[in-house]
Amino acid sequence: MSVKRSRFGEYYLYTIENSQGSKLEVTDLGATVRSILMPDRNGIMGDVVLGYDTPEEYLKSDGYLGAAVGRYANRIAGAGFTLNGTTYELTANEGGNMLHGGIGFSKRRFDTVSAEDSMVVFELRDPDGGDGFPGNLTVRIGYELSDDNDVCIYYAASSDKDTVINLTNHCYFNLSGEGDILGHELLINAGSYLPVDGDLLPTGEICPVEGTDFDFRSGREIKNGFYDHCFVLDNNFCATLSDKKSGRVMLVATDMPGVQFYAGGALSERRGKNGRLYGKNSGLCLETQRFPDSPNRPEFPSCVLRAGEMFTSRTIYSFDVE
Ligand code: BGC
Repeated sequence: MSVKRSRFGEYYLYTIENSQGSKLEVTDLGATVRSILMPDRNGIMGDVVLGYDTPEEYLKSDGYLGAAVGRYANRIAGAGFTLNGTTYELTANEGGNMLHGGIGFSKRRFDTVSAEDSMVVFELRDPDGGDGFPGNLTVRIGYELSDDNDVCIYYAASSDKDTVINLTNHCYFNLSGEGDILGHELLINAGSYLPVDGDLLPTGEICPVEGTDFDFRSGREIKNGFYDHCFVLDNNFCATLSDKKSGRVMLVATDMPGVQFYAGGALSERRGKNGRLYGKNSGLCLETQRFPDSPNRPEFPSCVLRAGEMFTSRTIYSFDVE
């Protein structure tokens, strides 16, 4: 295993390579996953995530390609919440609501804590009041590539005041490395999902997937690119994504209670890595996370991080072929 560091404009790129020749490339710009190179069924390496060639494109573009998302991934209604009797006003960046933490983490420079063997660890300190959230927050995100083609993402966070937290990664996966993801097979290990309103905010109901287009429990072909919903996971096994064309398969495991399956339906046209044209459904996200708008939904599992306590979480994307 090795980690190489190279320049990425004013930032750094770290490339972790394993003994199979698979590679994970991450940058301190937004603690972003820039590429994941995995073999297809013939052993040919292909890049299975969307991204850009330059930091400038990351800085000017929307869509959070490969980025670390925080302090609060997904939406918070009315860009505000009340905790311990105090109401906090947050940065509204989608109408009157907050999406992905407002200004958030995705365009910030992270410090590199370590980069050795198979792992790179980034750290960000977000001041008390950052995007309106209480508490000086320290976040660490570790990226690891194993010799078995597992990409592990580790999260840790602590704050000096009670606050709320929801961290995820926003990789757009496309196991073919080209075209769109319609035709990929997806299994989500979720017996229920969270219906949303016109602003894509959860209505508060937790509905069974049985008999609906949200029942991915036995796996189904993605024929429709409208999905942008949080699924309530039955246990730590989250999902399996597979692509018949390349033979690539990706298994997702997490300790988070939910996964946002976003089929990339709102991704506008743009040039990505190597001049490739991206657009609607070019990639899909499986964002492991707490439930959207939990700060305003006491009926959802708590997203509160108490002062002085440590939040930790882990998600593993395991690659294979069939
Ligand atoms: C959200 C989408 C949003 C996308 C890009 C996803 O996590 O669920 O609604 O369009 O991020 O911002």
